[in-house]
Amino acid sequence: MSGRLRGKVAIVAGAGSIGPGWGNGKATATVFAREGAKVICADLNLAAAEETAAFIQNEGGQAFAVQTDVTSNEAVADLVGRTLGRYGRVDILDNNVGIAEVGGVVELPEEVWDRVFKVNLTGAFLAMKHVIPVMQRQFEQSGEGGSIINISSIASIRYTGVPYASYSATKAALNQLTRTTAVQYAPQKIRVNAILPGLMKTPMVEHSAGLAQAYGEGDVEAMWAARDAQVPMGHMGEAWDVAYAALFLASDEARYVTGLELVVDGGITLKYG
Ligand SMILES: NC(=O)c1ccc[n+]([C@@H]2O[C@H](COP(=O)([O-])OP(=O)(O)OC[C@H]3O[C@@H](n4cnc5c(N)ncnc54)[C@H](O)[C@@H]3O)[C@@H](O)[C@H]2O)c1
Repeated sequence: MSGRLRGKVAIVAGAGSIGPGWGNGKATATVFAREGAKVICADLNLAAAEETAAFIQNEGGQAFAVQTDVTSNEAVADLVGRTLGRYGRVDILDNNVGIAEVGGVVELPEEVWDRVFKVNLTGAFLAMKHVIPVMQRQFEQSGEGGSIINISSIASIRYTGVPYASYSATKAALNQLTRTTAVQYAPQKIRVNAILPGLMKTPMVEHSAGLAQAYGEGDVEAMWAARDAQVPMGHMGEAWDVAYAALFLASDEARYVTGLELVVDGGITLKYG
């Protein structure tokens, strides 16, 4: 641990993992704690959030778990309130919650379209809505705002070979929400950046029947092979790759970086052209 986030308080929304292994939020919460942050592990799935918090505590880090549905204004207000009650400030918000439902505009049911928007976009909106006023107060008191990281996807800027209209549209909207929010709050030293992961090998992908069907006719091993073959580097990324990108954006090393779309994809978007 080199203490790149020493003294900072971080909320990671979606800090669990939907299955065994390392999702992006779980890895990010762990890396933040290893670098000295106090981490609030928020997730709809309390057991998953507790697993991440326990892992951090076992390593000697500081973390606690909170059950939060990011689509609920009240739940997000409660999350921020509990964070302030425990640690008194919020320096970092990592909006990692996201779901992917496969389907183009013709086959996608309207209620699925609406749910993906609620989870992927409204969730990040609500989290920023409640955290930014805290960061504004911090700026007024000490000149320090905070860092917000929105986890988008390369699906926001490219067709990745899988038709998921709602996923792509929500992530594209998240990019623009990131840019406009970054400009609006830059004077108060609140930085807002996006990470666009490429093809990552995470539990979310493993347990998505739609993705396994789209890539490998339901065979997960065939899906991994197909995804590896698409990437110029020859393999998918890992949750840790997203976590280390988030660490940079969260840290003071990125103090002059805002409104960025940081692509973490082994070169695949270059190949799509
Ligand atoms: N895995 C990939 O290949 C990939 C690629 C690009 C972008 N991403 C993005 O990275 C992020 C995380 O992906 P992951 O693979 O780690 O997924 P994951 O499913 O393992 O983790 C997401 C967590 O969010 C939680 N969650 C879902 N709905 C919630 C809600 N309403 N409120 C609170 N928590 C909720 C889940 O319980 C889960 O623990 C997502 O935003 C995803 O779109 C992933």
